[in-house]
Amino acid sequence: MKIVVIGGTGLIGTKLVNSLRKIGHEVVAASPRSGVNTITGEGLATALAGAQVVVDVANSPSWEDKAVLDFFETSGRNLLAAEAAAGVGHHIALSVVGTERLLASGYFRAKMAQETLIKASPVPYTIVRATQFFEFVGAIAQSATEGQTVRLSPALIQPIVSDDVAAALVQVVIGTPLNGTVELAGPEPIRLDELVRQFLSANKDARKVTTDVDALYYGIKLNDQSLTPGDNPRLGPTHFADWLSRSRPQS
Ligand SMILES: NC(=O)c1ccc[n+]([C@@H]2O[C@H](COP(=O)([O-])OP(=O)(O)OC[C@H]3O[C@@H](n4cnc5c(N)ncnc54)[C@H](OP(=O)(O)O)[C@@H]3O)[C@@H](O)[C@H]2O)c1
Repeated sequence: MKIVVIGGTGLIGTKLVNSLRKIGHEVVAASPRSGVNTITGEGLATALAGAQVVVDVANSPSWEDKAVLDFFETSGRNLLAAEAAAGVGHHIALSVVGTERLLASGYFRAKMAQETLIKASPVPYTIVRATQFFEFVGAIAQSATEGQTVRLSPALIQPIVSDDVAAALVQVVIGTPLNGTVELAGPEPIRLDELVRQFLSANKDARKVTTDVDALYYGIKLNDQSLTPGDNPRLGPTHFADWLSRSRPQS
C-alpha cells in the first residue's frame, strides 16, 4: 500500500514509518521538514496522490489554547479535504484516552475538535486514543514543578511506551476502517504521583514529589477515571519499570 504518515518525523511518526517500510509498504514521511504542511496545504495533494491510507500523528508546535485549537482545526480540515479529493480509503488519527473528560484544558478541546472533524468527514476512519507515553512523564513532572517540589495528584494513569503505540498503529493501518474509536494503554495502572517518583528516582533527579489530591494536571482536576481507559483497551506489553531500567542514564 501507499501510506502517508502526517507527522512522520515525530516521536511516533518516525517509528511508524520505519515499521511500515520494514513490512514492504510505500511510506511517505510527511511533515514541514519534508515539504508537506497541513496548515498551509503545501505539498499535500502531491503526497496524497495514489495513497490508500493516511495516518495523522502530527502535533501542534504550540500548546497555547488558541494556537493549538487553530492547529488541529485547520490541519484537520485541510487534510480531510485533500484525502477526500485523492480518494483515500482510511484516515487514522492518534488522539488521547479520556479526551472528553479533560476539556478544562485547551489542548484537549483541540483534540476533541480534531476528532469531531474526522467523524463528520466522508473519509472512512479509525481514531486511536492512547494514554500518555512513557516519554511524556518527564514533561508531566516539569509542568508540576515549583522549585524542588513536584505537586501531583495520586489519580490513576496507565501510560504506554511509544514503541507499543507505533506497533498498535501498524495493526490499525493493515486492518479495515472501524469508523469508530479504539483505546490503547500500557499493561498496568499506576498512581500519577508514584509514576513520577519512580521516574525522578531512576534519573537521579533531586526533586521531591508531594501528593495533593487537588493538584491540577494541565489545569484539570483528576479522578481515577480521568486518564485511564474504559473496557477492553488494547494493551501494550512494555512495563514502565523495564523501560526505566533500559533508558536511565548510566552512572
Ligand atoms: N504525548 C503523549 O503522551 C500522547 C498521548 C496520546 C496521544 N498523543 C498524540 O500523539 C500524536 C503524536 O505525538 P508525538 O509526541 O509523536 O508528536 P511530536 O514528536 O511532537 O511530532 C510532531 C510531528 O508533527 C509534525 N508537524 C508539526 N506541524 C505540522 C504541519 N503543519 N504539517 C504537518 N506536520 C506537522 C512535526 O513535523 P516537523 O518535525 O517537520 O516539525 C512532527 O513530525 C499527537 O497528536 C498527540 O496528541 C500524545
